[in-house]
Amino acid sequence: MAKKKPELRSVKWFGREDIYGMIYRGWMKNRGVPHDQFDGRPVIGICNTWSELTPCNSHFRTIAEHVRNGVLEAGGFPLEFPVMSLGETLLRPTAMLYRNLASMDVEESIRANPLDGVVLLMGCDKTTPSLLMGAASVDIPAIGVSGGPMLSGKYRGTEIGSGTNTWSMSEDLRAGKITLAEFHEAESCMNRSHGHCMTMGTASTMASMVEALGVGLPGNAAIPAVDARRNVLARMAGRRAVEMVKEGLTLSKLLTREAFENAIRVNAAIGGSTNAVIHLIAIARRIGVELSLEDFDRLGRGVHCLVNLMPSGKYLMEDFYYAGGLPAVIRELGANRLLHRDALTANGKTIWENNREAPCWNRKVIFPVKKPFKKNAGIAVLRGNLCPDGAIIKPSAATPKLMKHRGRAVVFENIEDFHRRIDDPKLEIDRRSVMVLKNCGPKGYPGMAEVGNMPLPPKLLKRGVTDMVRISDARMSGTAYGTVVLHVAPEAAAGGALALVENGDEIELDVARRRLELLVSGEELERRRSNWRPPEPPLERGYWRLYFDHVLQANEGADLDFLAGKSGAFVPRDNH
Ligand code: FES
Repeated sequence: MAKKKPELRSVKWFGREDIYGMIYRGWMKNRGVPHDQFDGRPVIGICNTWSELTPCNSHFRTIAEHVRNGVLEAGGFPLEFPVMSLGETLLRPTAMLYRNLASMDVEESIRANPLDGVVLLMGCDKTTPSLLMGAASVDIPAIGVSGGPMLSGKYRGTEIGSGTNTWSMSEDLRAGKITLAEFHEAESCMNRSHGHCMTMGTASTMASMVEALGVGLPGNAAIPAVDARRNVLARMAGRRAVEMVKEGLTLSKLLTREAFENAIRVNAAIGGSTNAVIHLIAIARRIGVELSLEDFDRLGRGVHCLVNLMPSGKYLMEDFYYAGGLPAVIRELGANRLLHRDALTANGKTIWENNREAPCWNRKVIFPVKKPFKKNAGIAVLRGNLCPDGAIIKPSAATPKLMKHRGRAVVFENIEDFHRRIDDPKLEIDRRSVMVLKNCGPKGYPGMAEVGNMPLPPKLLKRGVTDMVRISDARMSGTAYGTVVLHVAPEAAAGGALALVENGDEIELDVARRRLELLVSGEELERRRSNWRPPEPPLERGYWRLYFDHVLQANEGADLDFLAGKSGAFVPRDNH
C-alpha cells in the first residue's frame, strides 16, 4: 500500500478557494509571486537572525539567499522571516536574558505562519539555542545552518582568538604589559571578517552541537563564514529542507536521547563551552527528552579533549576546519565506542554513515582518542552544601594543581562590588584565596552574566599569579579559562547557600571527588539565613518581570517554567 503523504500545513492557508484563500495568497502576490507557487509545494521558512546589532550574524542575508536558491532548486517555496536577534557583544545586561524571549518569537512565528519546514540561521552564541528551543516546541521538519566562525585573528605575527585574547590582553593592559594603542590595534586584528568567535567558544560549541545532534549537515560546525563552502552548505540545507518535509522528518525524530548523549560526548571531545550544559538541557526539555547535570558528568567521564583549540589549546576554528573539522572528531568517537552510531541526522543518514570515513589532515589540531590532547575533558558536576542542586567546572580549562584546593573566601556581593574593589591594592587577598561572586545567576543579574571568570587582582597578576579558584552563580564565556566554578544552584538571589558566604569562610574544592563545601556549621548558616532577604524584581513590569518570576535555575536549563515541552504544529483558527 502506498504510504500516505503527510498533509502540509501550508495547504490550510494557500490551498483554500474561499475568501481566506484570497487573503492568504493574494497579499503574497504583491511582490511578484506567481500563482503556480501555491500549488501545494512545501513552504520553507528561512528563520533569519540577521541584525546589524549582531555582528557575528552580519552576513546572514547572503546565507539566506543561498538557502533560498536551494529551496527553489528542490521545488519548494522559500519565505524568509526575521526573529529577534541576540548579539552577545552589545546586548545588556546579557544576551542570555533574552534567549527565552527569542525562543518564544521563533516558536510563535513558525506556528502562526504557513510553514511546512524551516531552515534556522544561527551564529552568535544565543541565536543557536533560542532557535532550536523555539523550533523544538513546534516540532516541524527543521534544519540548522550556522553562520561559521571568523577567520583567525592575526596580530603582529601571532594568532589571536576572540574572547580568549580579549581576556588575556585586557589583563596585560591592566598589568601595564601593553599600551592602549596596542590594545586598539589588537581589536582590529581580531575581528577581520564576517563570522562568529573563532575560538572554541560558545558559538563554535553550539555550531558543533548542531552537527552532533544531527540537526545540521556534516561540516556545519567549522567552515569559516567567508569560505564559499559555507554558502554551499546553506544551499544544500535549503534543498534538504524540502526533502525533509516530504519525508515528515520532524525535529523530534532527530533530537532523541541518543542524539543528546552524542552531543554531550562531542562537547567533551572538543573542549566545548560550559554554556552548552544549560542550552542542551533547555533544548532537551522542550522536545521532551530527560537530561540532567549528572548526564554530563557520567557521559563525559573518560572522554578526552581531542582538539587543540583556544581556550583549552592553541589553534583556531579555521585550523580546525582545514584539519578535518567536527567529522574527524565524530569519527574518532565512533571508532572508540563513544557514539550512538545509529542516531539519525538531517540528511536522512545516520551520524556514523556521515562520518565514518572522515579524514584528519593535521594531528597537531585534532588528536586521536588513543593519544588525546588533554585527558578527561568532560564537564565535572560538583555537589556539596554550597551547591546542593549542582555547580560545574571545566577541568580542561582549569589549572590541575588548583583542582583540589582549600582557601578563605573573598566575597563580592555583586559585579559592581567586584569592580569597585578588585583593583584596590589594600584588598585582602592572596594566591590561596577563593574568590566568591554572588547575585549573577539567572534571577540575580538578571540573565546569568558571563562574569564567572573574574579577572584576578592586579597586585597578584604583577606577582605572576595566573589562576585562582573562583566560584559564582554566573556563567563564563566559552572563550574563557581558569579554575572557575560556575552555575552554582540554587543561585544567591534564589536563597542558595552562596548568599550566606562571608569573607574569611573556608571553602574546599575537590574536583576528583566532585565536592564543593562551605566549611561553616549548619547552625551558623541558619543564623545567617534568618537575616537574608530575597531581592526585589529588577523591574516591576514587562519581559524582565516575566523572566524574574518564571526563570528556572541553571541545572534546569534556565528556561521559563511555562515554556518546557512543546505545543506542536497545530494550525491556529482563521484570522478574520
Ligand atoms: Fe558572537 Fe562571540 S560574540 S559569537
